[in-house]
Amino acid sequence: MGLRKILTDKDPALHKVCKPVTAFDNKLHKLLDDMAETLIDSGGVGLAAPQVGILRRVFLVDMGEDAPEIVEFINPEILETDGEQYGPEGCLSVPGKYGLVKRPYYAKVRAQDRDGEWFEAEGEELIGRCFCHEYDHLDGIVYTEVMDRFLTDEELNGD
Ligand code: NI
Repeated sequence: MGLRKILTDKDPALHKVCKPVTAFDNKLHKLLDDMAETLIDSGGVGLAAPQVGILRRVFLVDMGEDAPEIVEFINPEILETDGEQYGPEGCLSVPGKYGLVKRPYYAKVRAQDRDGEWFEAEGEELIGRCFCHEYDHLDGIVYTEVMDRFLTDEELNGD
């Protein structure tokens, strides 16, 4: 296990389309373990492989309500979305900032686990938003490219 460095959105790795995972081997498992440790350490909800400089279609989402419950999504596809939500969104690669982004309220994802088995997961509100945000990372899209605007300092401070 080891913490990986989280790249900021100035890094070209955050703006490239990632390749599918083809080998479900020890190297992948090490990446997933390191990403889980990095995500928990950061206090974020989701982390995509390009954020740690690996251009593969992998993201992790913490789906736990009280305690961390990290779910690994490999070669994910968004199967279905429903509804709409509009609100502030952040990213570990854009530290200290939040932007207003419109997203589906609900999303259902199909992905492979670390052994290559397909599964489905669904989520609403924060999790639905997170699925869409992390999926965008795999196509080289950072939320700042799809947001309306950043929150102002006053809005951030709750005034
Ligand atoms: Ni992000």
